[in-house]
Amino acid sequence: MKFGCKNADILNNNIIRIYEKKNDTSLFMLNNITKDGESKIIPDITVDQDGTITVNRNKKTVFKEFFGSETRLKSRNTEFSIAIKEGHNAVESEINYKVQVNIRLFDLNDRIYGLGDKAAHLNRRGYIYTSWNSDEPTQHNETYRSLYKSINFFIVNHSDNLWYGIFYPSSYRTDFDFGKYSDKFMYIGSKKGEYDYFLILGDTPREIISAYYSLIGKSVFMPFKFLGNHQSRWSYSEEDARALVKHHTDDGLPLDYIHFDIDYMKGYRVYTVDKDYIRDFAGFALELKRAGVDTITIIDPGVKEEQGYEIYDDLIKNDGVATLDNKPYINEVWAGDSVFPNYFKESVREYFTDKTSEFIDKYNVSGIWTDMNEPASFNGPLPDDVEFAGDDQKTHYHDEVHNLYAEYMVKAVSEAFKNKNLRPTVITRAAFATTTRYTASWNGDNQSLWDHLRTSLPQIMTMNMSGFFMNGVDVGGFGNDTNRELLIRWAAACLFMPYFRNHSGLNSKQQEPYAFDDEAYEIYKNFLKIRYRFVPYMYTLYKNAVETGTPMFAPLFYWYPDDENVKEINDQVMVGPCVMHAPIVNQGEKQRIVYLPKGSWVLYGTDRHFAGKQSYIIEEDLHTTAIFIKEGAIIPMLENKISLDPAEINEILVYVAKVKGEIKANTEAEPNAEAEENYIPFDFYWDDGKTLDSEKGIYDNYRISYEKGELKVNKTYDGYKSKLKFRLI
Ligand code: GLC
Repeated sequence: MKFGCKNADILNNNIIRIYEKKNDTSLFMLNNITKDGESKIIPDITVDQDGTITVNRNKKTVFKEFFGSETRLKSRNTEFSIAIKEGHNAVESEINYKVQVNIRLFDLNDRIYGLGDKAAHLNRRGYIYTSWNSDEPTQHNETYRSLYKSINFFIVNHSDNLWYGIFYPSSYRTDFDFGKYSDKFMYIGSKKGEYDYFLILGDTPREIISAYYSLIGKSVFMPFKFLGNHQSRWSYSEEDARALVKHHTDDGLPLDYIHFDIDYMKGYRVYTVDKDYIRDFAGFALELKRAGVDTITIIDPGVKEEQGYEIYDDLIKNDGVATLDNKPYINEVWAGDSVFPNYFKESVREYFTDKTSEFIDKYNVSGIWTDMNEPASFNGPLPDDVEFAGDDQKTHYHDEVHNLYAEYMVKAVSEAFKNKNLRPTVITRAAFATTTRYTASWNGDNQSLWDHLRTSLPQIMTMNMSGFFMNGVDVGGFGNDTNRELLIRWAAACLFMPYFRNHSGLNSKQQEPYAFDDEAYEIYKNFLKIRYRFVPYMYTLYKNAVETGTPMFAPLFYWYPDDENVKEINDQVMVGPCVMHAPIVNQGEKQRIVYLPKGSWVLYGTDRHFAGKQSYIIEEDLHTTAIFIKEGAIIPMLENKISLDPAEINEILVYVAKVKGEIKANTEAEPNAEAEENYIPFDFYWDDGKTLDSEKGIYDNYRISYEKGELKVNKTYDGYKSKLKFRLI
C-alpha cells in the first residue's frame, strides 16, 4: 500500500517492509521473501492523516510508528567543557537525523531485546546504542553504544504479551534509542541512508525470529569438531602449544583446536609465517592434528605498506585497496603503516580466497580467525570519505561500507574452504546482520571481570536470537588477569556456549585449564567432559538452528513466552527445548535461586526431580553447575571423547530424563509409580561433520524414542548410511 511518499509492502503475514526508498541493497544481500509466513493472521495497517502507522493483529494494536512534536529531539544543552577537563565523556545524541523512525512504547513494561553483541542485559530498554563496528579494548558495559558488530534487529514485548520485531537494513551509522530519551517512544535515527525497515510480526519470539531468519539467509554450518574445546592466547609459541597438547594426550584434557595469534606471522605481515617463531609450521600443525588437535591462525585485514611484500605489491598493482584522494589510504595496524584491501571488489575477494586456500594447504591449517575487521586502525578512525570502488561501477564511501567490511572479508576467506568441499572454519570479530552466512564469531576483547562473565550469557543469547549461532566470548576474560574462582565459574557458565574458546591477552596471567592448582584443573577438565558428553545433542540443535533460525543458546522467554517470570532472567539459558543451565556467575556464591518454567525437571547427575513454575535454592559448589533436563527428554550423548572426530564415533549414548509424574507445588517431586509416561522423541541428525556433502542430502536422521522402558531407534532418513549404535545409559 502507498501513503504519501511512503509504502508498506506486505511480504507475507509475518513481514511488512515500510519504506520511502529502499536502502541500497547492492552491498548486502537479503533473501527475497517468496513464501507465505507462518502466521494465519492478516495484519491490518492503517495510516492516519498525520502519518501515524498503526498495525493491528486480531484487532489488537501491536505496533505504532508516529510523528509529532514530542519526537522532535532536543539537546540537553549543557555546558560540558569543565567535565571534559576531568576526563568525562560528553556523548550526546544526534538531534538532527535525516531519518528518524519513532516507535510508540506502550507502557513502562515494554521490553526490548536484540542488537547483537552489546554488553548488556537481555532487556535493553532505557539505553541507546549505535550500530558502528568498533574495536573496543576497554571495559565494556551496558552504556557502551557500539561494540564490534552491527545487527540491526530487535524484538519488543509489550502489553497483553504482544510481540513484534524490527529489522533496520542499513549499513550506515545508526542510533537505536530504546527509551532512554523518553518513556513514551523509542527511535531509530540516522544521518544517512533511507527510511526503510521491516516490521516483523508473530505471536511469539520464535515466530518473529524465524521470519527474520528467512530474510537474512541461512547461517554457515561449521564442522562438528568446532563444538569442541578451543584454547588460545596472544600468542602461543611452539613450546606453549606442545605443552597444551601434552596435557591433552597425557591427562585427557578435552581439546580440539589451538589458536595461533599474530606473532606467528613475520612482522605481522598477513599470510606469512615466521620461521624463528615456529620452525616448521606445516610439520608442527600436522603433529598436532595427529594428536586430534587442529590449528587455527589469525589473519587481519591490514596489509603492511612495503614494496617487495607480495601481497602489498599485488594489491597495489591491481587497484585493490581503499583510497583517499586517489592514493592508497594508509593507517596503522599491527604491522605498522598498512593499506586496507578493498574486499568489495570481486577480484580482490578472489585474490584473498586464493591466498587463504594456498595458506591453509601449505601450513596444514584448519581454520582462519579474522580479526580487526571493523576495520580497526591505530591512527584514528578511517575518514568517512575513504573510497572503496565497487564492482557496480560505483564508489562506496567508508561511512556506507564500514559495517560491511568484515562481511566481505569473511566472504572471501570462507570461499577457500567451500572450494575444497569443506565447511568453512572461519571466525570473525566484526559483523553485519547477514555475516552469519559465512562465519562463526566471538564477542571481542572482554576482560577478566565478574561483570563480563555475567554479560557473556545475555550477549550470546542475543546473538543466537539473530541467527549468529556459533558465537562465544573469551572464556576466562581476555584483558586483565583472571583468578582461580573466576576461571572455573566462567568455564562452567559457558559449558553450552556454542563456540567455546579460552583466550587471553598479551601479558595477562596464564589461564589455561591447568594454570592454577591440580584441583582447579580437574574441575575445569570435568566441565569440558560434561560439554563433550552433550555434543551430539548440541550438534542436532545446531543443524536445526541453521535450518530454521531456532537459537541453540536461548533465553527462557524464547521457549516460555507466556511466563512473565522469565522475561528478565539473564543468568539461565535454554540449550534447545529440553536443557536449562543455571550457572553461578557471582563471586563467592555457593548457591543460587533457580527459576524452573512449567513442566517437571531433573537435576542432571542426580535423581532429584523438581516441579516447574517456581523457584528453588540450588547448591552449586565450585565443582558443580546446575543443569536441568526436562522430564521425558531424550538426550543423545557421547562417551569419553577428548577430541571430536566424527569418523571415530560409532556409538551414541542415550540419556532419558525419567518421568516421575505429577508433582506437587513447592516440593521436589515424589516418585509416582502410576505416572503416565510421556517421553519426547528426539530427531537426531548425523553426517560426516566436515564436508558440504550434507547439502546434497548426504546425512542421516534417526528418531530416538523411549517406550515402556525400552529404547527405540528408527532411521528416518538414510542419505549418509551411517551405522551408529545407540545405547541407553
Ligand atoms: C585483538 C583481538 C584479540 C587478539 C589481539 C591480537 O585485540 O580482539 O583477540 O588476541 O587483537 O591479535
